[in-house]
Amino acid sequence: MTTKAHEIRLKSRPVGLPVAENFELAETALAAPGQGEVLVRNLWMSVDPYMRGRMYDRQSYVPPFQIGEALQGGAIGRVEQSNNPDFKPGDLVESMNGWRDTFVSVGGALQKLPTENVPPQAYLGVLGMPGLTAYSGLARIGEPKAGETVFVSGAAGAVGAIVCQIAKLRGCKVVASAGTDAKLAWLKSVGVDEVVNYKTCGNLLEAVRKTAPQGIDIYFDNVGGEHLEVALEVARPHARFIECGMISAYNDTEVKPGPRNMIYVVGKSIKMQGFIVMNYWDMRDQFRAEMIQWIKDGKIKWEETVENGIANAPKAFLALFSGGNTGKMLVKLD
Ligand SMILES: NC(=O)c1ccc[n+]([C@@H]2O[C@H](COP(=O)([O-])OP(=O)(O)OC[C@H]3O[C@@H](n4cnc5c(N)ncnc54)[C@H](OP(=O)(O)O)[C@@H]3O)[C@@H](O)[C@H]2O)c1
Repeated sequence: MTTKAHEIRLKSRPVGLPVAENFELAETALAAPGQGEVLVRNLWMSVDPYMRGRMYDRQSYVPPFQIGEALQGGAIGRVEQSNNPDFKPGDLVESMNGWRDTFVSVGGALQKLPTENVPPQAYLGVLGMPGLTAYSGLARIGEPKAGETVFVSGAAGAVGAIVCQIAKLRGCKVVASAGTDAKLAWLKSVGVDEVVNYKTCGNLLEAVRKTAPQGIDIYFDNVGGEHLEVALEVARPHARFIECGMISAYNDTEVKPGPRNMIYVVGKSIKMQGFIVMNYWDMRDQFRAEMIQWIKDGKIKWEETVENGIANAPKAFLALFSGGNTGKMLVKLD
């Protein structure tokens, strides 16, 4: 017996900003799970900016998506049928089999969700990859100390919003940049000290300087481009730059010149380090334990932006590039 399934495939490689026509929804028929296999119905799937990189036909830290094949991404699903003793129907599992509503898998590729009292989709956001990115990047590269000033770009997104709150918990002053006043109001509501709307402030350098007259000790970079130049300009000696992402450049059709003021890295003895969250996977248990406690204590809050139905997954992905999400961008499946 087969099961009907749906998946989003890459139809063509985007040139510049992706468009809906780069994706297609396809129906497939899944064979019944064999020995050791389980059939999973996805409940939630994650859409992430890094996926844009996988749409180029070039080698990177993850292989490129192939035209005509289903995309991949984080997902939370429920086991519906199981021929694997480690799983039973009803179990909630995490996988990288997003961008489809149903799949068959050998159990080894699945992780059972812990039974904490949080909504399951939190494991795609605050308790998942974006949360670990924020936690580990800030800790390992930023090494924040109480009283220091942390500048965060993309601050109202899945990663940025958690960075801001962890930095506050570590006793830092936080200056946050995001693209709408509603996002800034939310950031203020969770304790961020100073906020800048980079779209309406007129002069980003002046705006950041005004909010951090003493300069910044840490820059958590989600955006690159002008934000990075501004951060270099206002950095204090021995500042740490956490190069997490550069979303402003993900759709560039040619390589742009880097920051014009890189020379400050030398004179200000700046440490600038890029990272991939997988580098710090060893922190995952420590991260989850501390984050769960913060959540229970009401010290960390998060937002979600939800599109419904697999057909709307490309729309959710495209919205990442126009600031359509506050907090974690998710797709809820029927
Ligand atoms: N290194 C790693 O392992 C790792 C892991 C996860 C994520 N990342 C990176 O971290 C960054 C944030 O990821 P996320 O999942 O938390 O995404 P996100 O911040 O939730 O979503 C993307 C946000 O970026 C902002 N943005 C889009 N285009 C922009 C531009 N041209 N200039 C400035 N801001 C822009 C938008 O907010 P506004 O309204 O503020 O414009 C948008 O909502 C991305 O660069 C991502 O690639 C890296």
